[in-house]
Amino acid sequence: MKVYLETMGCQMNVLDSELVRSLLRESGMEMTDDARSAEVLLYNTCSVRDHAENKVHSRLGWACQRKAGGKRLVIGVLGCMAQRLGIELVRRHVGVDIVCGPGQLGRVAEMVLEATAGHGPQIALDSSTALRVAMRSSKGDATRNKAESDDNVEFLDLHRDPLRHHLPGQAYVRIMRGCDKFCTYCIVPYVRGPERSRPPEEILEEVRRLAGAGVTQVTLLGQTVNSYRFADDGQTVGLADLLELLESVSGLKRIRFITSYPGDFDRAILQAMCDLPKVCKYLHIPAQSGSDRVLRAMGRRYSRGEYDDLIDAARQTVPGIGIAGDFIVGFPSETEEDFAASADLIRRSRYKNSYIFKYSSRPGTTAAKRLTDDVPNQVKRYRNRELLAEQEAVSLAGNREMTGQTVEVLVEGLSPRAEKQSRKGGTVKPNAVRLGRGSSEHGQVFDLTVPPPHKQLVGRTRTDHIVVFDGSENLAGQYANVKIIDATALTLFGKL
Ligand code: 5AD
Ligand code: SF4
Repeated sequence: MKVYLETMGCQMNVLDSELVRSLLRESGMEMTDDARSAEVLLYNTCSVRDHAENKVHSRLGWACQRKAGGKRLVIGVLGCMAQRLGIELVRRHVGVDIVCGPGQLGRVAEMVLEATAGHGPQIALDSSTALRVAMRSSKGDATRNKAESDDNVEFLDLHRDPLRHHLPGQAYVRIMRGCDKFCTYCIVPYVRGPERSRPPEEILEEVRRLAGAGVTQVTLLGQTVNSYRFADDGQTVGLADLLELLESVSGLKRIRFITSYPGDFDRAILQAMCDLPKVCKYLHIPAQSGSDRVLRAMGRRYSRGEYDDLIDAARQTVPGIGIAGDFIVGFPSETEEDFAASADLIRRSRYKNSYIFKYSSRPGTTAAKRLTDDVPNQVKRYRNRELLAEQEAVSLAGNREMTGQTVEVLVEGLSPRAEKQSRKGGTVKPNAVRLGRGSSEHGQVFDLTVPPPHKQLVGRTRTDHIVVFDGSENLAGQYANVKIIDATALTLFGKL
Protein backbone atom coordinates (compact mmCIF):
# COMPACT_ATOMS: atom_id res chain seq x y z
CA MET A 1 0.00 0.00 0.00
CA LYS A 2 1.30 3.45 -0.94
CA VAL A 3 0.73 6.13 1.68
CA TYR A 4 0.91 9.90 1.24
CA LEU A 5 1.25 11.84 4.50
CA GLU A 6 1.16 15.64 4.45
CA THR A 7 2.10 17.70 7.49
CA MET A 8 0.70 21.10 8.45
CA GLY A 9 1.64 23.20 11.46
CA CYS A 10 4.39 23.15 14.04
CA GLN A 11 7.58 21.15 14.67
CA MET A 12 5.64 18.84 16.98
CA ASN A 13 3.60 17.79 13.95
CA VAL A 14 6.74 17.35 11.86
CA LEU A 15 8.04 14.96 14.52
CA ASP A 16 4.69 13.18 14.88
CA SER A 17 4.57 12.63 11.11
CA GLU A 18 8.10 11.27 11.11
CA LEU A 19 7.18 8.80 13.84
CA VAL A 20 3.96 7.79 12.10
CA ARG A 21 5.95 7.18 8.89
CA SER A 22 8.30 4.84 10.75
CA LEU A 23 5.34 2.96 12.13
CA LEU A 24 3.65 2.62 8.75
CA ARG A 25 6.85 1.39 7.15
CA GLU A 26 7.24 -1.15 9.94
CA SER A 27 3.76 -2.38 9.06
CA GLY A 28 4.87 -2.96 5.47
CA MET A 29 3.46 0.18 3.88
CA GLU A 30 5.35 2.33 1.40
CA MET A 31 5.51 6.12 1.70
CA THR A 32 5.17 8.35 -1.37
CA ASP A 33 5.46 12.10 -2.01
CA ASP A 34 2.92 11.90 -4.79
CA ALA A 35 -0.66 12.26 -3.55
CA ARG A 36 -2.08 11.23 -6.94
CA SER A 37 -0.49 7.80 -6.95
CA ALA A 38 -1.24 7.02 -3.28
CA GLU A 39 -3.93 4.64 -2.07
CA VAL A 40 -3.91 6.13 1.42
CA LEU A 41 -4.03 9.90 1.97
CA LEU A 42 -3.23 11.14 5.47
CA TYR A 43 -3.22 14.74 6.67
CA ASN A 44 -1.51 15.63 9.95
CA THR A 45 -3.32 18.83 10.81
CA CYS A 46 -3.09 22.06 12.79
CA SER A 47 -5.95 23.99 14.47
CA VAL A 48 -4.09 27.01 15.72
CA ARG A 49 -5.58 29.37 13.13
CA ASP A 50 -8.63 29.24 10.90
CA HIS A 51 -6.44 29.46 7.82
CA ALA A 52 -4.64 26.19 8.68
CA GLU A 53 -7.96 24.38 9.04
CA ASN A 54 -9.33 25.77 5.77
CA LYS A 55 -6.36 24.33 3.94
CA VAL A 56 -7.19 20.87 5.30
CA HIS A 57 -10.87 21.21 4.37
CA SER A 58 -9.85 21.98 0.82
CA ARG A 59 -7.47 18.97 0.71
CA LEU A 60 -10.26 16.76 2.03
CA GLY A 61 -12.68 18.16 -0.53
CA TRP A 62 -10.26 17.17 -3.30
CA ALA A 63 -9.61 13.70 -1.86
CA CYS A 64 -13.27 12.89 -1.21
CA GLN A 65 -14.20 14.02 -4.69
CA ARG A 66 -11.71 11.58 -6.22
CA LYS A 67 -13.05 8.83 -4.02
CA ALA A 68 -16.64 9.67 -5.02
CA GLY A 69 -15.42 9.47 -8.64
CA GLY A 70 -14.60 5.79 -8.13
CA LYS A 71 -10.95 5.79 -6.97
CA ARG A 72 -10.18 3.33 -4.16
CA LEU A 73 -8.81 5.53 -1.40
CA VAL A 74 -8.39 5.54 2.35
CA ILE A 75 -8.57 9.11 3.68
CA GLY A 76 -7.41 10.04 7.17
CA VAL A 77 -7.22 13.18 9.31
CA LEU A 78 -4.62 13.10 12.08
CA GLY A 79 -3.59 15.53 14.81
CA CYS A 80 -5.14 18.65 16.29
CA MET A 81 -7.99 19.19 13.85
CA ALA A 82 -9.02 15.54 14.16
CA GLN A 83 -9.16 15.99 17.93
CA ARG A 84 -11.06 19.28 17.69
CA LEU A 85 -13.71 18.23 15.16
CA GLY A 86 -13.90 14.47 15.73
CA ILE A 87 -16.82 12.73 14.04
CA GLU A 88 -17.94 16.03 12.52
CA LEU A 89 -15.14 15.54 9.96
CA VAL A 90 -16.73 12.30 8.75
CA ARG A 91 -20.11 14.00 8.48
CA ARG A 92 -18.77 17.04 6.66
CA HIS A 93 -16.50 15.14 4.26
CA VAL A 94 -18.16 11.95 3.11
CA GLY A 95 -15.28 9.61 2.37
CA VAL A 96 -13.09 10.29 5.40
CA ASP A 97 -12.21 6.92 6.97
CA ILE A 98 -9.81 7.83 9.78
CA VAL A 99 -9.96 10.50 12.46
CA CYS A 100 -7.04 10.22 14.88
CA GLY A 101 -6.19 12.67 17.69
CA PRO A 102 -2.56 13.57 18.50
CA GLY A 103 -2.49 11.26 21.52
CA GLN A 104 -3.59 8.21 19.51
CA LEU A 105 -1.12 8.29 16.64
CA GLY A 106 0.40 4.97 17.72
CA ARG A 107 -2.76 3.38 16.29
CA VAL A 108 -2.63 4.84 12.78
CA ALA A 109 -1.21 1.72 11.08
CA GLU A 110 -3.88 -0.48 12.62
CA MET A 111 -6.57 2.04 11.65
CA VAL A 112 -5.36 2.12 8.03
CA LEU A 113 -5.57 -1.66 7.87
CA GLU A 114 -9.07 -1.70 9.38
CA ALA A 115 -10.27 0.99 6.98
CA THR A 116 -8.76 -0.85 4.00
CA ALA A 117 -10.58 -3.99 5.08
CA GLY A 118 -13.82 -2.00 4.84
CA HIS A 119 -14.54 -1.95 8.57
CA GLY A 120 -16.09 1.52 8.47
CA PRO A 121 -14.78 4.86 9.81
CA GLN A 122 -12.04 4.55 12.41
CA ILE A 123 -12.17 7.20 15.12
CA ALA A 124 -9.57 7.48 17.91
CA LEU A 125 -9.63 10.56 20.11
CA ASP A 126 -7.89 11.41 23.37
CA SER A 127 -10.49 11.08 26.09
CA SER A 128 -8.51 13.14 28.62
CA THR A 129 -8.66 16.04 26.19
CA ALA A 130 -12.36 15.60 25.50
CA LEU A 131 -12.97 15.47 29.25
CA ARG A 132 -10.95 18.65 29.69
CA VAL A 133 -13.12 20.48 27.16
CA ALA A 134 -16.28 19.27 28.90
CA MET A 135 -15.01 20.25 32.34
CA ARG A 136 -14.00 23.69 31.26
CA SER A 137 -17.29 24.41 29.57
CA SER A 138 -19.38 23.15 32.50
CA LYS A 139 -17.34 24.50 35.42
CA GLY A 140 -15.70 27.57 34.00
CA ASP A 141 -12.14 28.49 33.35
CA ALA A 142 -10.83 28.04 36.87
CA THR A 143 -11.04 24.26 36.45
CA ARG A 144 -7.77 22.59 35.62
CA ASN A 145 -8.21 19.04 34.54
CA LYS A 146 -5.22 17.07 35.73
CA ALA A 147 -6.81 13.78 34.72
CA GLU A 148 -4.32 11.10 33.84
CA SER A 149 -3.94 10.88 30.14
CA ASP A 150 -4.89 7.70 28.36
CA ASP A 151 -2.88 8.49 25.26
CA ASN A 152 -0.48 5.97 23.81
CA VAL A 153 1.94 8.18 21.90
CA GLU A 154 4.86 7.39 24.18
CA PHE A 155 4.80 4.22 22.17
CA LEU A 156 5.58 6.29 19.07
CA ASP A 157 8.61 8.02 20.59
CA LEU A 158 9.97 4.78 21.98
CA HIS A 159 9.68 3.05 18.62
CA ARG A 160 11.28 5.72 16.49
CA ASP A 161 13.73 4.78 13.78
CA PRO A 162 16.96 6.60 14.77
CA LEU A 163 18.09 6.67 11.17
CA ARG A 164 15.21 8.78 9.90
CA HIS A 165 14.91 12.47 10.72
CA HIS A 166 13.73 15.71 9.17
CA LEU A 167 17.19 17.00 8.15
CA PRO A 168 20.57 15.29 7.79
CA GLY A 169 22.25 14.95 11.18
CA GLN A 170 19.39 16.66 13.05
CA ALA A 171 16.47 15.30 15.02
CA TYR A 172 13.53 16.55 17.04
CA VAL A 173 13.01 14.96 20.42
CA ARG A 174 9.79 15.42 22.36
CA ILE A 175 10.39 16.06 26.04
CA MET A 176 6.84 16.93 27.00
CA ARG A 177 3.38 17.17 25.57
CA GLY A 178 0.32 19.29 26.09
CA CYS A 179 -0.12 22.67 27.69
CA ASP A 180 -1.70 23.93 30.94
CA LYS A 181 -1.38 27.64 30.31
CA PHE A 182 -4.76 28.23 28.65
CA CYS A 183 -3.93 31.53 26.96
CA THR A 184 -7.38 32.84 26.11
CA TYR A 185 -6.87 32.77 22.30
CA CYS A 186 -5.25 29.36 22.04
CA ILE A 187 -6.73 26.00 21.06
CA VAL A 188 -3.65 23.94 21.97
CA PRO A 189 -4.60 22.98 25.56
CA TYR A 190 -7.92 21.65 24.24
CA VAL A 191 -6.46 19.52 21.49
CA ARG A 192 -3.07 18.48 22.88
CA GLY A 193 -4.30 17.87 26.43
CA PRO A 194 -2.62 18.43 29.80
CA GLU A 195 1.08 19.09 30.30
CA ARG A 196 3.04 15.84 30.75
CA SER A 197 6.82 15.57 30.92
CA ARG A 198 8.63 12.46 29.76
CA PRO A 199 10.98 10.68 32.16
CA PRO A 200 14.54 12.02 31.77
CA GLU A 201 16.02 8.52 31.39
CA GLU A 202 13.80 7.88 28.38
CA ILE A 203 14.83 11.15 26.76
CA LEU A 204 18.49 10.43 27.47
CA GLU A 205 18.18 6.97 25.97
CA GLU A 206 16.49 8.33 22.85
CA VAL A 207 19.15 11.02 22.39
CA ARG A 208 21.93 8.43 22.87
CA ARG A 209 20.38 6.22 20.20
CA LEU A 210 20.07 9.16 17.82
CA ALA A 211 23.66 10.26 18.46
CA GLY A 212 24.77 6.67 17.89
CA ALA A 213 23.04 6.82 14.51
CA GLY A 214 24.92 9.97 13.49
CA VAL A 215 22.66 12.75 14.77
CA THR A 216 24.72 15.69 16.09
CA GLN A 217 21.94 18.21 16.78
CA VAL A 218 18.80 17.55 18.77
CA THR A 219 15.98 20.03 19.22
CA LEU A 220 13.96 19.33 22.35
CA LEU A 221 10.29 20.01 21.77
CA GLY A 222 7.57 21.15 24.11
CA GLN A 223 4.70 23.62 23.82
CA THR A 224 6.14 25.35 26.91
CA VAL A 225 9.49 23.62 26.99
CA ASN A 226 10.85 25.49 29.99
CA SER A 227 7.98 24.07 32.09
CA TYR A 228 9.59 20.63 31.71
CA ARG A 229 9.48 19.03 35.15
CA PHE A 230 9.72 15.39 36.05
CA ALA A 231 9.31 14.37 39.67
CA ASP A 232 10.34 10.96 40.91
CA ASP A 233 11.45 9.67 44.31
CA GLY A 234 11.24 13.14 45.83
CA GLN A 235 13.60 14.54 43.19
CA THR A 236 12.54 16.97 40.49
CA VAL A 237 14.34 17.27 37.17
CA GLY A 238 13.81 20.60 35.41
CA LEU A 239 14.92 21.71 31.95
CA ALA A 240 18.30 22.99 33.22
CA ASP A 241 19.00 19.57 34.79
CA LEU A 242 17.91 17.78 31.64
CA LEU A 243 20.26 19.93 29.54
CA GLU A 244 23.13 19.00 31.84
CA LEU A 245 22.23 15.33 31.52
CA LEU A 246 22.18 15.50 27.71
CA GLU A 247 25.44 17.46 27.56
CA SER A 248 27.18 14.18 28.43
CA VAL A 249 25.97 12.33 25.31
CA SER A 250 29.01 11.61 23.20
CA GLY A 251 28.81 12.41 19.51
CA LEU A 252 26.23 15.11 20.16
CA LYS A 253 27.34 18.66 19.27
CA ARG A 254 24.29 20.88 19.59
CA ILE A 255 21.22 20.91 21.83
CA ARG A 256 18.34 23.29 21.18
CA PHE A 257 14.96 23.61 22.87
CA ILE A 258 11.73 25.23 21.66
CA THR A 259 9.36 26.90 22.54
CA SER A 260 9.75 28.77 25.85
CA TYR A 261 7.01 30.44 27.85
CA PRO A 262 8.09 33.77 29.40
CA GLY A 263 6.25 33.36 32.72
CA ASP A 264 8.06 31.51 35.51
CA PHE A 265 11.25 31.20 33.48
CA ASP A 266 13.88 29.54 35.66
CA ARG A 267 17.12 31.56 35.42
CA ALA A 268 19.06 28.30 35.87
CA ILE A 269 18.18 27.57 32.23
CA LEU A 270 20.02 30.73 31.15
CA GLN A 271 22.99 29.71 33.27
CA ALA A 272 22.95 26.26 31.63
CA MET A 273 22.98 27.94 28.20
CA CYS A 274 26.04 29.87 29.23
CA ASP A 275 27.89 27.00 30.96
CA LEU A 276 27.14 24.00 28.73
CA PRO A 277 29.03 24.17 25.43
CA LYS A 278 26.57 21.96 23.52
CA VAL A 279 23.52 24.03 24.43
CA CYS A 280 22.87 26.53 21.64
CA LYS A 281 22.58 30.19 22.50
CA TYR A 282 19.12 30.52 21.07
CA LEU A 283 15.79 31.25 22.71
CA HIS A 284 12.39 31.29 21.03
CA ILE A 285 10.31 33.10 23.58
CA PRO A 286 7.00 34.49 22.29
CA ALA A 287 5.75 37.69 23.94
CA GLN A 288 2.49 37.79 21.89
CA SER A 289 2.01 41.47 22.80
CA GLY A 290 3.97 44.35 24.30
CA SER A 291 0.93 45.83 26.06
CA ASP A 292 0.12 44.90 29.67
CA ARG A 293 -3.58 45.36 29.05
CA VAL A 294 -3.55 42.92 26.11
CA LEU A 295 -1.29 40.45 27.93
CA ARG A 296 -3.86 40.34 30.73
CA ALA A 297 -6.72 39.83 28.28
CA MET A 298 -4.71 37.06 26.64
CA GLY A 299 -4.29 35.38 30.02
CA ARG A 300 -0.50 35.46 29.67
CA ARG A 301 0.93 35.13 33.15
CA TYR A 302 3.58 37.85 33.00
CA SER A 303 3.75 41.58 32.61
CA ARG A 304 5.63 43.59 30.02
CA GLY A 305 8.12 44.60 32.72
CA GLU A 306 8.78 40.97 33.64
CA TYR A 307 9.27 40.08 29.98
CA ASP A 308 11.75 42.95 29.53
CA ASP A 309 13.65 41.80 32.62
CA LEU A 310 13.85 38.26 31.23
CA ILE A 311 15.27 39.46 27.92
CA ASP A 312 17.81 41.63 29.77
CA ALA A 313 18.81 38.66 31.93
CA ALA A 314 19.17 36.44 28.85
CA ARG A 315 21.43 38.97 27.09
CA GLN A 316 23.49 39.47 30.21
CA THR A 317 23.90 35.78 31.15
CA VAL A 318 24.29 34.46 27.60
CA PRO A 319 26.31 36.98 25.57
CA GLY A 320 25.65 36.75 21.84
CA ILE A 321 22.32 34.94 22.31
CA GLY A 322 19.86 34.89 19.39
CA ILE A 323 16.28 35.58 20.48
CA ALA A 324 13.13 35.01 18.41
CA GLY A 325 9.58 36.06 19.22
CA ASP A 326 5.94 35.57 18.26
CA PHE A 327 3.28 38.26 18.15
CA ILE A 328 -0.45 38.27 17.61
CA VAL A 329 -1.89 41.45 16.09
CA GLY A 330 -5.55 42.40 16.21
CA PHE A 331 -6.39 40.60 19.44
CA PRO A 332 -9.92 41.68 20.52
CA SER A 333 -9.96 45.34 21.63
CA GLU A 334 -6.31 45.95 20.66
CA THR A 335 -5.88 49.72 20.24
CA GLU A 336 -3.27 51.64 18.26
CA GLU A 337 -1.57 52.32 21.58
CA ASP A 338 -1.43 48.59 22.45
CA PHE A 339 -0.12 47.90 18.99
CA ALA A 340 2.57 50.59 19.37
CA ALA A 341 3.68 48.80 22.57
CA SER A 342 4.27 45.61 20.52
CA ALA A 343 6.32 47.54 17.97
CA ASP A 344 8.29 49.05 20.83
CA LEU A 345 8.92 45.59 22.29
CA ILE A 346 10.35 44.40 18.97
CA ARG A 347 12.80 47.29 18.95
CA ARG A 348 13.70 46.83 22.59
CA SER A 349 14.15 43.05 22.47
CA ARG A 350 16.22 43.14 19.26
CA TYR A 351 14.80 39.79 18.12
CA LYS A 352 16.70 38.08 15.36
CA ASN A 353 13.30 37.28 13.86
CA SER A 354 9.63 37.25 14.87
CA TYR A 355 6.66 35.24 13.71
CA ILE A 356 3.69 37.57 13.43
CA PHE A 357 0.11 36.34 13.23
CA LYS A 358 -3.27 37.96 12.76
CA TYR A 359 -5.63 37.00 15.57
CA SER A 360 -7.91 34.15 14.55
CA SER A 361 -10.85 33.36 16.81
CA ARG A 362 -10.84 29.66 17.75
CA PRO A 363 -14.17 28.12 18.72
CA GLY A 364 -14.28 26.95 22.34
CA THR A 365 -11.47 29.18 23.62
CA THR A 366 -12.15 31.76 26.34
CA ALA A 367 -11.48 34.66 23.95
CA ALA A 368 -13.96 33.27 21.42
CA LYS A 369 -16.59 32.86 24.12
CA ARG A 370 -16.13 36.13 25.96
CA LEU A 371 -14.59 38.67 23.61
CA THR A 372 -15.71 40.12 20.31
CA ASP A 373 -13.32 39.75 17.40
CA ASP A 374 -13.66 43.48 16.84
CA VAL A 375 -10.46 44.52 15.04
CA PRO A 376 -11.36 44.69 11.33
CA ASN A 377 -9.40 42.39 9.07
CA GLN A 378 -7.86 45.26 7.14
CA VAL A 379 -6.54 46.74 10.39
CA LYS A 380 -5.10 43.33 11.30
CA ARG A 381 -3.44 43.18 7.91
CA TYR A 382 -2.03 46.67 8.27
CA ARG A 383 -0.68 45.95 11.77
CA ASN A 384 0.79 42.67 10.56
CA ARG A 385 2.65 44.49 7.78
CA GLU A 386 3.79 47.27 10.09
CA LEU A 387 5.13 44.88 12.71
CA LEU A 388 6.91 42.86 10.04
CA ALA A 389 8.53 46.07 8.81
CA GLU A 390 9.68 46.91 12.36
CA GLN A 391 11.12 43.42 12.72
CA GLU A 392 12.79 43.60 9.34
CA ALA A 393 14.64 46.77 10.32
CA VAL A 394 15.77 45.19 13.59
CA SER A 395 16.82 41.95 11.85
CA LEU A 396 18.74 43.78 9.15
CA ALA A 397 20.68 45.85 11.68
CA GLY A 398 21.50 42.69 13.69
CA ASN A 399 22.53 40.73 10.60
CA ARG A 400 24.73 43.56 9.31
CA GLU A 401 26.62 43.51 12.60
CA MET A 402 27.53 39.93 11.81
CA THR A 403 29.25 40.67 8.51
CA GLY A 404 32.96 40.01 8.69
CA GLN A 405 32.54 37.33 11.39
CA THR A 406 33.31 33.68 10.78
CA VAL A 407 30.57 31.42 12.10
CA GLU A 408 30.10 27.68 12.40
CA VAL A 409 27.01 26.39 10.60
CA LEU A 410 25.38 23.01 10.54
CA VAL A 411 24.62 22.50 6.86
CA GLU A 412 21.00 21.59 6.15
CA GLY A 413 21.44 20.97 2.41
CA LEU A 414 20.63 22.85 -0.76
CA SER A 415 19.05 26.27 -0.28
CA PRO A 416 15.32 26.21 -1.16
CA ARG A 417 16.11 27.97 -4.40
CA ALA A 418 18.90 25.56 -5.36
CA GLU A 419 16.62 22.67 -4.41
CA LYS A 420 13.96 23.91 -6.81
CA GLN A 421 16.51 24.42 -9.57
CA SER A 422 18.04 21.01 -9.03
CA ARG A 423 14.61 19.34 -9.31
CA LYS A 424 14.30 21.03 -12.68
CA GLY A 425 17.74 19.74 -13.68
CA GLY A 426 19.67 23.00 -13.55
CA THR A 427 22.05 24.60 -11.11
CA VAL A 428 22.27 27.91 -9.35
CA LYS A 429 24.78 30.58 -10.11
CA PRO A 430 26.80 31.60 -7.06
CA ASN A 431 24.79 34.04 -4.97
CA ALA A 432 21.87 33.96 -7.37
CA VAL A 433 19.48 34.62 -4.51
CA ARG A 434 21.31 37.72 -3.42
CA LEU A 435 21.48 39.09 -6.92
CA GLY A 436 17.85 38.26 -7.47
CA ARG A 437 18.34 36.45 -10.78
CA GLY A 438 18.83 32.85 -11.66
CA SER A 439 16.31 31.43 -14.06
CA SER A 440 18.57 31.72 -17.08
CA GLU A 441 20.96 28.95 -16.12
CA HIS A 442 18.60 25.99 -16.53
CA GLY A 443 19.65 22.90 -18.31
CA GLN A 444 23.42 23.01 -17.79
CA VAL A 445 25.12 19.70 -18.48
CA PHE A 446 27.94 18.59 -16.20
CA ASP A 447 30.90 16.39 -16.97
CA LEU A 448 30.63 13.69 -14.29
CA THR A 449 34.38 13.01 -14.34
CA VAL A 450 35.09 16.34 -12.62
CA PRO A 451 34.17 17.07 -8.98
CA PRO A 452 30.56 18.20 -8.49
CA PRO A 453 30.10 21.95 -8.93
CA HIS A 454 29.45 24.07 -5.90
CA LYS A 455 25.81 24.70 -5.27
CA GLN A 456 24.00 27.13 -3.06
CA LEU A 457 23.71 25.60 0.42
CA VAL A 458 21.93 26.67 3.55
CA GLY A 459 22.98 26.16 7.14
CA ARG A 460 22.28 27.50 10.61
CA THR A 461 24.52 29.00 13.24
CA ARG A 462 24.24 28.03 16.90
CA THR A 463 22.17 31.19 17.37
CA ASP A 464 19.77 29.94 14.64
CA HIS A 465 20.82 32.48 12.03
CA ILE A 466 20.30 31.26 8.46
CA VAL A 467 23.44 31.37 6.30
CA VAL A 468 23.51 30.80 2.54
CA PHE A 469 26.83 29.99 0.85
CA ASP A 470 28.26 27.99 -2.03
CA GLY A 471 29.66 24.55 -1.38
CA SER A 472 29.49 20.92 -2.30
CA GLU A 473 26.15 19.24 -1.74
CA ASN A 474 27.74 16.46 0.28
CA LEU A 475 28.37 18.92 3.12
CA ALA A 476 24.74 18.36 4.19
CA GLY A 477 24.70 17.23 7.83
CA GLN A 478 28.29 18.47 8.35
CA TYR A 479 29.65 21.52 10.12
CA ALA A 480 31.35 24.27 8.13
CA ASN A 481 33.04 27.55 8.99
CA VAL A 482 31.63 30.34 6.91
CA LYS A 483 32.71 33.96 6.70
CA ILE A 484 29.76 36.33 6.50
CA ILE A 485 30.15 38.73 3.60
CA ASP A 486 26.67 40.17 3.15
CA ALA A 487 23.31 40.32 4.87
CA THR A 488 19.63 40.91 4.28
CA ALA A 489 16.96 40.94 7.00
CA LEU A 490 16.23 37.24 6.52
CA THR A 491 19.53 35.77 5.41
CA LEU A 492 23.27 36.00 5.92
CA PHE A 493 25.47 35.34 2.89
CA GLY A 494 28.84 33.79 3.38
CA LYS A 495 31.90 32.10 1.93
CA LEU A 496 33.34 28.81 3.05
N1 5AD B 1 -4.68 33.41 16.42
C1 5AD B 1 -3.50 33.84 15.91
N2 5AD B 1 -2.33 33.35 16.30
C2 5AD B 1 -2.31 32.39 17.25
N3 5AD B 1 -1.31 31.73 17.83
C3 5AD B 1 -1.83 30.85 18.70
N4 5AD B 1 -3.17 30.94 18.72
C4 5AD B 1 -3.50 31.89 17.81
C5 5AD B 1 -4.73 32.45 17.37
N5 5AD B 1 -5.90 32.05 17.87
C6 5AD B 1 0.10 32.00 17.53
C7 5AD B 1 0.89 32.40 18.77
C8 5AD B 1 1.72 31.18 19.03
C9 5AD B 1 1.93 30.64 17.63
C10 5AD B 1 2.32 29.22 17.57
O1 5AD B 1 0.69 30.82 17.02
O2 5AD B 1 1.71 33.49 18.45
O3 5AD B 1 2.95 31.50 19.67
FE1 SF4 C 1 -1.14 28.09 23.47
FE2 SF4 C 1 -0.42 29.70 25.51
FE3 SF4 C 1 -0.03 27.00 25.68
FE4 SF4 C 1 1.47 28.46 23.98
S1 SF4 C 1 1.43 28.67 26.26
S2 SF4 C 1 0.44 26.49 23.53
S3 SF4 C 1 0.02 30.04 23.28
S4 SF4 C 1 -2.00 28.08 25.57
